Amino acid sequence: MSEHVVITSANGVLEIRLNRPEKKNALTRAMYNAMADAFVAADAEPAVRAVLLTGTGDAFTSGNDISDFRARSEGNGETSASRFLPTIASLAKPLIAAVNGMAIGIGTTMLMHCDLIVAAKSATFRMPFTPLGLVPEAGSSLLVPLAIGHRRASAMLLLGEGIDAATAAEWGLINQVVDADELMPRARAMAARLAALPPEAVRQTKALIKTGKPDLPGRMAEEIELFRRRVVSPEAKEAFTAFAEKRKPDFSRFS
Ligand code: COA
Repeated sequence: MSEHVVITSANGVLEIRLNRPEKKNALTRAMYNAMADAFVAADAEPAVRAVLLTGTGDAFTSGNDISDFRARSEGNGETSASRFLPTIASLAKPLIAAVNGMAIGIGTTMLMHCDLIVAAKSATFRMPFTPLGLVPEAGSSLLVPLAIGHRRASAMLLLGEGIDAATAAEWGLINQVVDADELMPRARAMAARLAALPPEAVRQTKALIKTGKPDLPGRMAEEIELFRRRVVSPEAKEAFTAFAEKRKPDFSRFS
C-alpha cells in the first residue's frame, strides 16, 4: 500500500495511477512495492484482463526518487526497484501505458515492458543514467537498442538525450501520440478492447511476442549488480549531492 499509488479496477481493467505530482511522481520504495503488488494481484485475479499504468499531473514519472538513491548510497546500494522490476517483466496480462508527461529514467525503461503505449503530446522520454553516474536498468541496455537501434539508443543511454512524443512514435518506442484530453479515453478504449478478447489467447500471444530475448533475465541481473555498485560510487554521490544542492555536478576529478 502507498498513498502515492492509486489502484482501481473496473470492467476487467486494473488501473494503476502514480499519484505524487508534487514530486513529479518520483518513485519511492513504497510506490515500487505497491506497483509490484498490483501486478501480482492482476495476474492472480481472473476478472482482470488488462492493466493500465498512468500518472497524475504533468509528469508520468521523474524516475527513482533521488533522495532515496542518496540514502542508498550511504548503505549497500540495494535498489528500491529490485522487487518491482521482475514483476513488471513477468506480468502475463497485457500492460498499457498512458504517458501523461515526462518519463525519466525508470519512467522510460519500465515502458520497455509495456505492450501498448499511448502518450500525450507533452510527453518526453529521457534516460539520464550516465549523468547520474549510473548504468541503465530494467533490461533497457538490451531492449532499447532492439527497439530503436544502436545509434539512437546510444544517444539516449550514453548521452542521456531526451526525445519528444512525436520522435518516440516515429522511432517505434510508443504506439500513438494524442492530445492531452484524449489520452485516458484512448488508453481506456485500448484496455477495453483487450478486456473483451479471449484472455488465454491474449496471454499466450503476449508471451510469444516477448520470446526471442533469452538474454533478458541475465541482462537484468547484470545491470542490477552493476547498478548497485554504481549507486554507492563517488561519481553517483557527486551527482546526487549536486541534485540536492540544486547545482551542476562536477566530474572533473574522476578518472
Ligand atoms: N527524485 C526526487 N525528487 C524529485 C525528482 C526525483 N527523481 N524529480 C523531481 N523531484 C522533486 C524536485 O526536487 C522538486 O522538489 P521540491 O519542490 O521539494 O524542490 C519537485 O519534485 C518538483 O520538481 P522541479 O525540479 O521543481 O520541477 P521542474 O519541472 O523544474 O523539473 C524535472 C522536473 C523532473 C526535470 C527535474 O526535477 C529533474 O531533473 N528531476 C530528476 C530526474 C532524474 O534524474 N531522475 C532519475 C533518473 S535515473
